[in-house]
Amino acid sequence: MKNFYIKNYGCQMNVYDSQRMTDILRNMGYVSNSSIEKADIIILNTCHIREKASEKLYSELGRLNKLKKQKLKDEKKDIKIAVAGCVAQSDGKEIINRAPWVDMVFGPQNYHNLSKFIEKSCEKKNIKIIDTNFPVEVKFDFLPEEFYERGISSFVTIQEGCDKFCNFCVVPYTRGVEYFRTKDEIFFESEKLVKNGSKEIILLGQNVNAWKGKNNSGKKIGLGYLINELSKIVGLERIRYTTSHPLDMDDELMETHSTNPILMPYLHLPIQSGSDKILKLMNRKHTASDYKRIIDKMRTHCPDIALSSDFIVGYPGETDTDFEETISLIKDVKFSSSFSFKYSVRPGTPAARQKNQIDENVKSERLFYLQSLLNSQHGDYNKNFIGKTLEVLVSKKVKNQMTGKSSYFQTVYFDGDEKLNGKLVNLEIIGSSKNSLTGKFLNIKEN
Ligand code: SAH
Ligand code: SF4
Ligand code: F3S
Repeated sequence: MKNFYIKNYGCQMNVYDSQRMTDILRNMGYVSNSSIEKADIIILNTCHIREKASEKLYSELGRLNKLKKQKLKDEKKDIKIAVAGCVAQSDGKEIINRAPWVDMVFGPQNYHNLSKFIEKSCEKKNIKIIDTNFPVEVKFDFLPEEFYERGISSFVTIQEGCDKFCNFCVVPYTRGVEYFRTKDEIFFESEKLVKNGSKEIILLGQNVNAWKGKNNSGKKIGLGYLINELSKIVGLERIRYTTSHPLDMDDELMETHSTNPILMPYLHLPIQSGSDKILKLMNRKHTASDYKRIIDKMRTHCPDIALSSDFIVGYPGETDTDFEETISLIKDVKFSSSFSFKYSVRPGTPAARQKNQIDENVKSERLFYLQSLLNSQHGDYNKNFIGKTLEVLVSKKVKNQMTGKSSYFQTVYFDGDEKLNGKLVNLEIIGSSKNSLTGKFLNIKEN
């Protein structure tokens, strides 16, 4: 029996891709192994979004070189090392130049050919497989229909790539042009996942709310319509979607939040900066007041919506005044959770060529200040739930406790039986921190 090990970096779309690669490997007779030392094939599914994320690859490859040599010496076994994902797409052959012990390099749009890559690589010693061309075919049409190893909550990628070209971002170059899977394809995949035990579907895309498709009469439809269609799947208890772009937030989707009971009241809507000058330099094509208008509208449709966002500090040209505008937007909107980063120069993107890069110390100071504010908002948000009852989808055991997500995407821990896994339960909230809640089990939700 041959073992494989996939190490995943980056966003949820990479998690989904790793799961689909798992399906391919399982079909080839490989077995998933929790130990990298025992694997016959190791795949690093990489992320290129920030410099730190990319650099992780090369330090990991250094360790794998030693492992590969040792395996050859001790067990006469030639383990295969593959680099997949967004660094593979961007660095391509350069990875083999820097790390000649790597056997395969392929991008996020090429992994449907994984079995062919492995066969070729095993046929001939020292052959290198590099495939980072954007193929004419669509990978989804070639992926296995059997699904392995999904949990209570499953990801379904519905949209790939990006045509927006924000000046700081590598995604349009690593994932390619915008592509939408069809309604039927998404329905079929989601239905199958629910039959396999999933209770929640999280629809994924770099700009998930840009999704467009056709209904059965050939009429153009958007994400709100799709969500209502998916709600017909018997046994599906919750739907979420991420990541959304402000420019694609349409009325129908906002209304769906008020009319569809299984669409969860949570919206991750990145703004990046509260300064119109910076947003323009970033090529975001929306202003801070556009963003606030969307939030106001969203709140009229769904008053209890939990809001989350992404922020970048220290973008080239960001002054103290620009930064203060971001702070003031955060104070205005109030977020339940968030992700924030120092601007990271990405080779090949327009912002990397800008002269007025910000000093690292200034970036660190701004990030610290911004995160302190956001953390206190997250803490306040969670604290508000103490004494209230929340519905939680139980998804796993962590140490001695059960855990799951509330409707508002908070992680909640509680003492309970493992048999509650996969159930929607009511919990009385008895404790809170900025990152999670603790609850007391009340009862299982009745259907
Ligand atoms: N499509 C989504 C975001 C995808 S990337 C959107 O448009 O909002 C996820 C997050 O990584 C971004 O929202 C941004 O905050 C951050 N990010 C992307 N490129 C970055 C860079 N060069 N430096 C720092 N953060 C970056
Ligand atoms: Fe990157 Fe902008 Fe596309 Fe988001 S919208 S993936 S930040 S280019
Ligand atoms: Fe990273 Fe690629 Fe996702 S760069 S964030 S893994 S799309």
